Amino acid sequence: MKEIEKSIETCVSLVELEKIRVSLFGKKGYFAAQFNELKTLEGEAKKEFAQNLNTNKEHFLEILNQKKLFLEAAMIQEEMQKSRVDVTLFNQESSAGALHPVMETMDKIIEYFISMNFSIEEGPLVEDDFHNFEALNLPKHHPARDMQDTFYFNDAMLLRTHTSPVQIRTMLSQQAPVRMICPGAVFRRDYDITHTPMFHQVEGLVVDKTGKVSFANLKFILEDFLKYMFGDVKVRFRPSFFPFTEPSAEVDISCIFCHGEGCRVCSHTGWLEVLGCGVVDPNVFKAVGYKDVSGYAFGLGVERFAMLLHQVPDLRSLFEGDLRLLEQFR
Ligand code: PHE
Repeated sequence: MKEIEKSIETCVSLVELEKIRVSLFGKKGYFAAQFNELKTLEGEAKKEFAQNLNTNKEHFLEILNQKKLFLEAAMIQEEMQKSRVDVTLFNQESSAGALHPVMETMDKIIEYFISMNFSIEEGPLVEDDFHNFEALNLPKHHPARDMQDTFYFNDAMLLRTHTSPVQIRTMLSQQAPVRMICPGAVFRRDYDITHTPMFHQVEGLVVDKTGKVSFANLKFILEDFLKYMFGDVKVRFRPSFFPFTEPSAEVDISCIFCHGEGCRVCSHTGWLEVLGCGVVDPNVFKAVGYKDVSGYAFGLGVERFAMLLHQVPDLRSLFEGDLRLLEQFR
């Protein structure tokens, strides 16, 4: 019996333990044989034998049970070790997110103007007629309002068509000098390969005492900015019209795809239009109560910049959330 006890002690698997149990308690096992033997005895001898037998039986039941519990616990432990997940482990398969190309372009633009000491101002997307139009020298029924296909809520309220109203709000709330940009979403009723009803602008405004800010300053900063964004490009200023600036200009860069040779993207002109700008019209300063100041302003579409920088042919695709497109920008 000592030997069996030993084999239970050293047993390392449940299967093995079960074999030992059967050898003891099975129909043809040790105890069955012992009980058969018991039947052949009588009197004191039988009593003594039976007592011994019972103690033995209980003893083995007990150590078998102990061992079984032990092996089961060990097995669970082993199973848990095997299927353990290290949540801190880096998974090669997992895909990292990335900034949307429009936001990444926006950040790059903002970074430049922060380095040039511009403050960043924000304003509401739902604007009133005064801030979006009137104060910008665009009175009611002025034909130039047609330049911006507006989403109206009613006669007085609309979705801002540019971020210029933020410039008005800033001038109304603080005195010159002002040196600001206003990045943000704007809305126009437009939808084709180069227009989406919602897009982003960054507009800038610099105002100081009369004579301190000129078109020359504007020209310098925009040239420097465009070289920062697009590398070594040529920059040209073309006379244009905006109600809120006089004189006004549109700014072109030499085509970054054909380097001025002429291609499909630049409509074979060799130039890409990227900005609007000008010297702030005195009527704008009148509307905000600024006196004895001069200033310049400029505005650009962030999507247009992103399209050019990343060679995205259809602007609408930037807003479809198609992962096959977005994953290319990781
Ligand atoms: N507000 C103009 C637009 O949205 C852009 C612009 C800003 C032009 C400032 C000139 C000066 O089209």
